[in-house]
Amino acid sequence: MAVNMEVVLAEWKARTLAEYRSASIAAEFQMWLIRLGFSVDVIQKAHEIVGHELAHSDLCWEIYASLGGEEDPLDCTEGSLAIPNAFGEPTFDRLVLACMDHYCVAETLAGPLFEAMTEKVTKAGPKKALDRLAADTKAHAAFGWAVLDEAIEQDDAYVLEIAKTAIPGFLSRVEEAWGVIPDGWKEPVGPEEGKYGLIPRAVYKRCFYQSIAAGVLPELDARNLPGRSAWSNRKR
Ligand SMILES: [Fe+2]
Repeated sequence: MAVNMEVVLAEWKARTLAEYRSASIAAEFQMWLIRLGFSVDVIQKAHEIVGHELAHSDLCWEIYASLGGEEDPLDCTEGSLAIPNAFGEPTFDRLVLACMDHYCVAETLAGPLFEAMTEKVTKAGPKKALDRLAADTKAHAAFGWAVLDEAIEQDDAYVLEIAKTAIPGFLSRVEEAWGVIPDGWKEPVGPEEGKYGLIPRAVYKRCFYQSIAAGVLPELDARNLPGRSAWSNRKR
């Protein structure tokens, strides 16, 4: 079967922008860590992450271009590059929300997804990029949990209060993105597209539920944050 190049290009184009957005988020997040007096260790890590995400975006762009993509993947509205959580609220609130949302939940779930992409990929460029993305993403999730620990040290009762309100929404959003196969879905990704580092929705779904159970919920439990109750009470 011929490879569906349109799907492959769209995916690498979207990854280029998603990684660039992660760089923008990490840079804004780092500034908040400095402002709020977090440890030098996490501030330096945030700085490294900005560099990683820019490199990821470049790697993805190279693949997109080498496969014939000619559009500008970074063409987007400026606002879509800003951290979206709780505009106008105090920086501590915004930091805790963005930390749980982007790093603790999303990056923890993204690690196994990138790993699954590395399993079937055979083309050299995509393989090299995905190996790097999979390894770095694990470190980014660990960074998120470390920042959350410092926030808990600063004010555990307040972090718990923020978590109670916000975690259900974060979990249902990622479930919608990765845990659901839409009705009537016609899967465009098969073995040929897999060689270019794409995975079908069924694999997203499987990885998602595995890493909620084995990654996100145990990490929240360990911090006495109400992930498990939010997960079992969620509306479906
Ligand atoms: Fe990344």
